[in-house]
Amino acid sequence: MSQPSFTARKAANLAQFSTPCLVLPIFKGQKLGGGIAELDAQMGGAIARALKLGDFTAELGSALSVLGNDRVQRILLLGCGAVKDFDLTSSKKLAQTAGKNLAATKAQQAHIALESLPLTADDSTHLLEVLATEILWSCYVYSETLSKPKNVPNLTKVSVSAPSALAVGKARGALNSGVSIGEGVNFTRQLGNLPANICTPTYLAKQARALGRKHSKLSVKILDEKKMQELGMGSLLSVGHGSDQPSQLIVMEYKGGKAKEAPYALVGKGITFDTGGISLKPSGKMDEMKFDMGGASSVFGTVQAAVNLDLPINLVGIVAAAENMPSGRATKPGDVVTSMSGQTIEILNTDAEGRLVLCDALTYVERYKPKEVVDIATLTGAIIVSLGHEASGIFANDDDLAEALLAAGQRSHDRGWRMPIWQEYQKQLDSRFADMQNIGAGTAGSVTAACFLARFTEKYKWAHLDVAGTSFLSSPKGATGRPVPMLVEYLRARAGQ
Ligand code: BES
Ligand code: MN
Ligand code: ZN
Repeated sequence: MSQPSFTARKAANLAQFSTPCLVLPIFKGQKLGGGIAELDAQMGGAIARALKLGDFTAELGSALSVLGNDRVQRILLLGCGAVKDFDLTSSKKLAQTAGKNLAATKAQQAHIALESLPLTADDSTHLLEVLATEILWSCYVYSETLSKPKNVPNLTKVSVSAPSALAVGKARGALNSGVSIGEGVNFTRQLGNLPANICTPTYLAKQARALGRKHSKLSVKILDEKKMQELGMGSLLSVGHGSDQPSQLIVMEYKGGKAKEAPYALVGKGITFDTGGISLKPSGKMDEMKFDMGGASSVFGTVQAAVNLDLPINLVGIVAAAENMPSGRATKPGDVVTSMSGQTIEILNTDAEGRLVLCDALTYVERYKPKEVVDIATLTGAIIVSLGHEASGIFANDDDLAEALLAAGQRSHDRGWRMPIWQEYQKQLDSRFADMQNIGAGTAGSVTAACFLARFTEKYKWAHLDVAGTSFLSSPKGATGRPVPMLVEYLRARAGQ
């Protein structure tokens, strides 16, 4: 995978500057400032004409590419809307437009000139971060299983001159942060997009080991089925019974904080393919169940980003990886299993497997005495009915943690919305033959799924993100990399950044 590199530099003298592609964000009604006006004059007034003719409106999200001269070969005009309306959401929109156009340009190098933007230091930092993240997002191409890669961007180098409120060093830092987040997001997308015959639980374990080898502050431990058996993880293991692929519990420990400091923990659902098991899913769109490890892949991407950002916290990333298949050995509806917590579960529907792997991983994480635990899972189709593809469902047994995730989602443009886990829903899980059953007896499928998990998380502050609607899309089909931006923002805030 090739991706462009980023540098920050001092404001360029545009009248003498050379670049294959100059990116110029312009506010609505903004007078073309010194350098831009001079450059435009050299090019015969192309920018002024584009504005006058109305081909370029400077509306937020608009863009126009005009050919320049031998020195500045192309100019990509980006609309910023009105100065008074510019906020964090505008930054995101602007960055998305920049990314889309830069991924399509024939130019190999581009310079983004932001020096004339009247933004505060904070807004500038945010803009530079999202620019790097969004450009990396746009330049990602999936090519692993294609004999000839398609639509590979030409772009290899991007330089940025920051708004004058931001020193070059700070600008460089913001770009680097944006790159770390963008790389984390793309890592998550890549794992999600890989087909399930490549991306197996064993493959995920290998990815974790490789990540651990790259970073001295990251250590990785893999628990195989034998080890999980010894720990009593009868629930997790029941999911992989029908599969020829062995289940794996993947543990990544990042030590960026003080040695004795309690860690934050992320726990991901890693069903590398979900057929539903004996409660077989219908065949239409079943291919999309290769994305059922979206929670797990977001743990990988977030851990990688945390390491690259060198966050001063301790963090444990746990992935419960298994393949849910029907076979003569598969778990059957009505089977009762014993979880690591000692609680027994009647498996009424083998397609409600996510909660079965998560509950044991959530019991396992107790040994870290974590400050807070967030699990991430493509858990229910019902969350798509509730929230569509805009927001991830947030469930939490702690208000402060829920607020932190909501705020992180806002800031990172990767939003969540809180859902209830009230006691009243719990009775739907009552079973005659076990301590609980694995599906709710009525409505509110996402809530009863979360209520199931809540029975295993009473010993710590916990939140559950249902990302079935946000971690991948059917059209254009692919993994989105969500909720990595939200999780990274949450961890940065917890780290005091
Ligand atoms: N992996 C699915 C949930 C899912 C559905 C994710 C659509 C992404 C898109 C999960 O394992 C599942 O099958 N859930 C069932 C639960 C039901 C059997 C209680 C569902 O949502 O139908
Ligand atoms: Mn399922
Ligand atoms: Zn599933």
